[in-house]
Amino acid sequence: MAADFVFLTDTHHYPDAPEDFGAPKMLTRSREVLDAIVPAVNELGPDFIVHGGDLLCGGGSFDLPRETYLRSVDEVSAAFSGFRSPSYYIPGNHDCDAQDGSFEALARKIKIPVVLDVVGAAPRLRLALANIYHRGNPIEDGNGTWTDDLDAALRGAADEALADRCAIILIIHTWLITDYEIGRGTINNADRLLNTISSHPAVVAVFTGHRHLNRIQAIRDFLVVDTACLIGFPLGFRRVRLNEDGMFTTTFCQLDLPEVLQDSYARSSPEANNRWQGELHDRDTEILIPRLKDIWS
Ligand SMILES: [Fe+2]
Ligand SMILES: [Fe+2]
Repeated sequence: MAADFVFLTDTHHYPDAPEDFGAPKMLTRSREVLDAIVPAVNELGPDFIVHGGDLLCGGGSFDLPRETYLRSVDEVSAAFSGFRSPSYYIPGNHDCDAQDGSFEALARKIKIPVVLDVVGAAPRLRLALANIYHRGNPIEDGNGTWTDDLDAALRGAADEALADRCAIILIIHTWLITDYEIGRGTINNADRLLNTISSHPAVVAVFTGHRHLNRIQAIRDFLVVDTACLIGFPLGFRRVRLNEDGMFTTTFCQLDLPEVLQDSYARSSPEANNRWQGELHDRDTEILIPRLKDIWS
């Protein structure tokens, strides 16, 4: 058993953006970034690709006109159709229409979960892809909610996976574990989700985006992997390898766009940039996941 995959998130495409908006985002360069993503990922030949949400700039903050939103959906789905490996997506708070909070136009072009989709992505490895906005409007509450429906679906999927000796990776858009900015960008009912994961040993890792920061934490016997954005510094995605012996290896791969990287870096202080990119071991590291070792052995 082994799996080699790419996790990317917060690509925030905005056709002909009038400005870059908040750092580290470089929305005026979003076409250039979008065009660079697919060849960079394809070159690695991963088994599969997962996107952690915020493909677009809908929802709150950007006040995106509907016409531009629809154009961004078309452009992103056309670009990502170039991925040569199976690709999976979850919605972020900026993936809905800025006018009415609906994900319908996106869902017509890119498959996103209604509540929780479970897919077999590699031998004995399943992804649980969560829509944390299936209740409530992402414009009003961007943090999303771990609902009764999501909790029941994950518990069922995890029990089934354990019986089949399969590992599960949960993909949610916002953070599970808060930081010193208490509650910022953290899913509502995070404690409940943490309890569910703790009591379901098939769930070996949780991947998130949203906060645009790299951070990896080992909690009990599983991992929580937060990833920075792909529309500004540190301008990269994760390559991840899971080995039969339970070892998780990740490398942060930056796009080969030195000018965009430099321009984005120049928008923030060195301290803020260090926060975006995280510590060395938030980018490149090797960690044993005890749950993965148990389930795959
Ligand atoms: Fe984002
Ligand atoms: Fe987000």
